[in-house]
Amino acid sequence: MSDTAHEVNYQVDDLVVPGGLDLDGTDERLWVPQADGVVFRPLIFSVSQGYFVNILRVRRTGTVSRHRHTGPVHAFTLRGRWHYPEHDWWAEEGTYSFEPPGDVHTLVVPEDVTEMAALFHATGSYLYVDEKGGPTGVEDVFTKLEKARNHYERVGLGASYVEQFIR
Ligand SMILES: [Fe+2]
Repeated sequence: MSDTAHEVNYQVDDLVVPGGLDLDGTDERLWVPQADGVVFRPLIFSVSQGYFVNILRVRRTGTVSRHRHTGPVHAFTLRGRWHYPEHDWWAEEGTYSFEPPGDVHTLVVPEDVTEMAALFHATGSYLYVDEKGGPTGVEDVFTKLEKARNHYERVGLGASYVEQFIR
Protein backbone atom coordinates (compact mmCIF):
# COMPACT_ATOMS: atom_id res chain seq x y z
CA MET A 1 0.00 0.00 0.00
CA SER A 2 1.35 3.39 -0.94
CA ASP A 3 -1.10 5.34 1.20
CA THR A 4 1.12 6.87 3.83
CA ALA A 5 -1.41 9.37 5.12
CA HIS A 6 -1.62 7.40 8.34
CA GLU A 7 1.70 6.96 10.06
CA VAL A 8 0.46 4.71 12.82
CA ASN A 9 1.46 1.08 12.39
CA TYR A 10 -1.06 -1.25 13.96
CA GLN A 11 0.91 -4.39 13.27
CA VAL A 12 2.47 -6.31 16.09
CA ASP A 13 6.24 -6.72 15.81
CA ASP A 14 7.71 -9.55 13.83
CA LEU A 15 9.64 -12.21 15.71
CA VAL A 16 12.79 -14.07 14.76
CA VAL A 17 14.51 -16.80 16.77
CA PRO A 18 17.94 -17.58 15.30
CA GLY A 19 18.77 -21.25 15.72
CA GLY A 20 15.19 -21.90 16.68
CA LEU A 21 15.45 -25.56 15.75
CA ASP A 22 18.81 -26.15 17.43
CA LEU A 23 18.63 -29.04 19.85
CA ASP A 24 22.29 -29.36 20.76
CA GLY A 25 24.67 -26.78 22.12
CA THR A 26 21.94 -24.40 23.22
CA ASP A 27 21.98 -22.71 26.59
CA GLU A 28 20.22 -25.35 28.72
CA ARG A 29 18.48 -22.56 30.59
CA LEU A 30 16.31 -21.93 27.53
CA TRP A 31 14.55 -25.25 28.16
CA VAL A 32 11.67 -24.92 30.56
CA PRO A 33 10.88 -27.92 32.76
CA GLN A 34 7.43 -29.30 31.98
CA ALA A 35 7.37 -32.66 33.76
CA ASP A 36 9.83 -35.34 34.78
CA GLY A 37 12.19 -35.74 31.80
CA VAL A 38 10.18 -33.27 29.71
CA VAL A 39 11.23 -29.72 28.81
CA PHE A 40 10.11 -27.18 26.24
CA ARG A 41 11.77 -24.28 24.45
CA PRO A 42 9.37 -21.50 23.50
CA LEU A 43 9.49 -19.89 20.06
CA ILE A 44 6.36 -17.77 20.29
CA PHE A 45 3.59 -17.17 22.82
CA SER A 46 0.75 -15.71 20.80
CA VAL A 47 -1.43 -14.18 23.48
CA SER A 48 -3.31 -12.27 20.78
CA GLN A 49 -4.38 -15.41 18.91
CA GLY A 50 -4.30 -18.01 21.64
CA TYR A 51 -1.59 -20.33 20.40
CA PHE A 52 2.01 -21.17 21.13
CA VAL A 53 4.88 -22.74 19.22
CA ASN A 54 7.51 -24.62 21.12
CA ILE A 55 9.95 -27.46 20.87
CA LEU A 56 9.13 -30.28 23.23
CA ARG A 57 12.10 -32.42 24.25
CA VAL A 58 11.50 -35.69 26.04
CA ARG A 59 14.26 -37.73 27.63
CA ARG A 60 12.21 -40.47 29.16
CA THR A 61 10.17 -43.29 27.72
CA GLY A 62 6.64 -44.51 28.18
CA THR A 63 3.54 -42.40 28.61
CA VAL A 64 4.22 -38.67 28.63
CA SER A 65 0.64 -37.45 28.87
CA ARG A 66 -2.95 -38.17 27.89
CA HIS A 67 -4.80 -35.11 26.69
CA ARG A 68 -7.58 -33.59 24.64
CA HIS A 69 -7.13 -30.60 22.36
CA THR A 70 -9.59 -27.75 22.03
CA GLY A 71 -7.78 -26.42 18.96
CA PRO A 72 -5.65 -27.66 16.08
CA VAL A 73 -2.08 -28.84 16.61
CA HIS A 74 0.67 -29.07 14.00
CA ALA A 75 3.78 -31.07 14.85
CA PHE A 76 7.16 -31.47 13.16
CA THR A 77 9.24 -34.25 14.64
CA LEU A 78 12.91 -33.31 14.78
CA ARG A 79 14.43 -36.26 16.60
CA GLY A 80 13.45 -39.69 17.85
CA ARG A 81 10.10 -41.38 17.51
CA TRP A 82 6.74 -41.22 19.28
CA HIS A 83 3.16 -42.22 18.76
CA TYR A 84 -0.39 -42.14 20.02
CA PRO A 85 -1.67 -45.68 20.69
CA GLU A 86 -5.13 -44.36 19.72
CA HIS A 87 -3.87 -43.92 16.14
CA ASP A 88 -2.00 -46.24 13.79
CA TRP A 89 0.69 -43.79 12.65
CA TRP A 90 4.11 -43.05 14.10
CA ALA A 91 5.89 -39.70 14.14
CA GLU A 92 9.53 -40.09 13.19
CA GLU A 93 12.31 -37.65 12.41
CA GLY A 94 11.02 -35.49 9.58
CA THR A 95 7.35 -36.33 10.07
CA TYR A 96 4.71 -33.60 9.93
CA SER A 97 1.48 -34.43 11.73
CA PHE A 98 -1.82 -32.68 12.37
CA GLU A 99 -3.98 -33.25 15.45
CA PRO A 100 -7.59 -32.12 15.04
CA PRO A 101 -9.50 -30.26 17.75
CA GLY A 102 -11.35 -32.70 19.98
CA ASP A 103 -8.85 -35.51 19.62
CA VAL A 104 -7.97 -37.37 22.80
CA HIS A 105 -4.66 -39.20 22.73
CA THR A 106 -1.78 -40.45 24.81
CA LEU A 107 1.75 -39.39 23.92
CA VAL A 108 4.05 -42.39 24.20
CA VAL A 109 7.81 -42.53 23.58
CA PRO A 110 9.07 -46.07 22.92
CA GLU A 111 11.75 -47.65 25.08
CA ASP A 112 14.52 -47.59 22.46
CA VAL A 113 14.35 -43.79 22.07
CA THR A 114 16.74 -41.86 24.32
CA GLU A 115 15.59 -38.44 23.15
CA MET A 116 12.52 -37.23 21.32
CA ALA A 117 12.12 -33.67 20.11
CA ALA A 118 9.27 -32.14 18.15
CA LEU A 119 8.08 -28.66 17.28
CA PHE A 120 4.44 -28.20 18.26
CA HIS A 121 2.20 -25.39 17.06
CA ALA A 122 -0.76 -25.64 19.41
CA THR A 123 -3.86 -23.47 19.37
CA GLY A 124 -6.25 -23.42 22.31
CA SER A 125 -5.68 -25.68 25.26
CA TYR A 126 -4.47 -29.07 26.29
CA LEU A 127 -6.95 -30.67 28.66
CA TYR A 128 -5.05 -33.37 30.50
CA VAL A 129 -7.19 -36.37 31.32
CA ASP A 130 -6.84 -39.60 33.29
CA GLU A 131 -7.61 -43.05 31.91
CA LYS A 132 -11.32 -42.56 32.47
CA GLY A 133 -11.30 -39.24 30.66
CA GLY A 134 -11.57 -37.14 33.82
CA PRO A 135 -9.74 -33.81 33.65
CA THR A 136 -6.51 -33.54 35.65
CA GLY A 137 -5.14 -30.24 34.37
CA VAL A 138 -5.24 -27.65 31.65
CA GLU A 139 -2.59 -25.81 29.71
CA ASP A 140 -2.65 -23.01 27.17
CA VAL A 141 -0.51 -20.12 25.94
CA PHE A 142 -0.98 -18.32 29.26
CA THR A 143 0.05 -21.19 31.54
CA LYS A 144 3.01 -21.99 29.29
CA LEU A 145 4.05 -18.36 29.36
CA GLU A 146 3.82 -18.26 33.15
CA LYS A 147 5.88 -21.43 33.45
CA ALA A 148 8.59 -20.02 31.18
CA ARG A 149 8.58 -16.68 32.96
CA ASN A 150 9.08 -18.31 36.37
CA HIS A 151 11.78 -20.61 35.02
CA TYR A 152 13.77 -17.80 33.39
CA GLU A 153 13.66 -15.85 36.59
CA ARG A 154 14.82 -18.88 38.59
CA VAL A 155 17.77 -19.67 36.30
CA GLY A 156 19.05 -16.09 36.21
CA LEU A 157 17.95 -14.99 32.74
CA GLY A 158 15.34 -12.78 34.36
CA ALA A 159 11.55 -12.92 34.14
CA SER A 160 11.60 -10.33 31.36
CA TYR A 161 13.54 -12.74 29.13
CA VAL A 162 10.22 -14.31 28.19
CA GLU A 163 8.89 -11.08 26.72
CA GLN A 164 10.77 -11.47 23.43
CA PHE A 165 8.52 -14.46 22.63
CA ILE A 166 5.19 -12.74 23.32
CA ARG A 167 3.02 -11.42 20.47
FE1 LIG B 1 -1.66 -33.89 21.32
